[in-house]
Amino acid sequence: MDSRLRTYKLAADYILKQTGGKVPLIGIILGSGLGRLADRIEDPIVIPYKNILGFPVSTAIGHKGNLIFGTLGGKYVIAMQGRFHYYEGYPMELVTIGVRTLAVLGVKFLFVSNAAGGCNPDFRVGDLVIIRDHISLFPNPLIGPNLDEFGPRFLDMTCAYDLELQKIAEDCAAQMGITLKKGVYFGSTGPTYETPAEVRFYRTIGADLLGMSTIPEVIVARHCGMRVFGMSVVTNATNVDNESKEFHDGGEVVQQADAAATRMTELFSKIIAAL
Ligand code: HPA
Repeated sequence: MDSRLRTYKLAADYILKQTGGKVPLIGIILGSGLGRLADRIEDPIVIPYKNILGFPVSTAIGHKGNLIFGTLGGKYVIAMQGRFHYYEGYPMELVTIGVRTLAVLGVKFLFVSNAAGGCNPDFRVGDLVIIRDHISLFPNPLIGPNLDEFGPRFLDMTCAYDLELQKIAEDCAAQMGITLKKGVYFGSTGPTYETPAEVRFYRTIGADLLGMSTIPEVIVARHCGMRVFGMSVVTNATNVDNESKEFHDGGEVVQQADAAATRMTELFSKIIAAL
């Protein structure tokens, strides 16, 4: 057996033991400052990454490093409270180990969330934005021998972000009186924030949101056949000129994300209830 597959199977077996054999339908990845969604999971079973063979520990600020299994919106879910970023120095195989382990576990839907900079001038700090597509500056996580057990060598990415899930999200948001925006997520490795010239360039090629995560996870999730829903919380506006005194740091991003986390949590549980 491929050594990567063996690692995912061992990790999934361990997780299944902790959940008492219950299989989650939905995986949720919680971005910077968004970890509080995990507090809403009922009858939670907390599985620290450090207890899962093969898992790295997440070192990024606002990221805790636990899997939380339980019920949300009446369904079994498993949340990654903290993700692994490429900028932390992990190879893509480790950046995406959580998603592939969840796939082996039997997860069918992946909800990904992140804190992002808004480079669409219509976006405001605190906006919740449905990710409808992405542009990637990451190395592709599928480079290397293909895991045929998961999916094809050449993966179609035309509907990476599930259209039906986007529609459900819009309906749920309308019922809740929440305004959602939609946008294209542009991902690069970080850890530097973008220069104003880069922001102008990325905007020109169609970016609405700028971030340093999510895309590698979405690619491997689609490769495994999972249906993906993505949401960004706009935590800062991105600078388009060099005169502005505004600058941002990780602390501000986490603070803004925390403020929006309650609305996102409500929305996620409603979408999940509607699945
Ligand atoms: N750029 C990149 N990543 C980010 C930003 C940003 O402005 N804000 C939060 N994550």
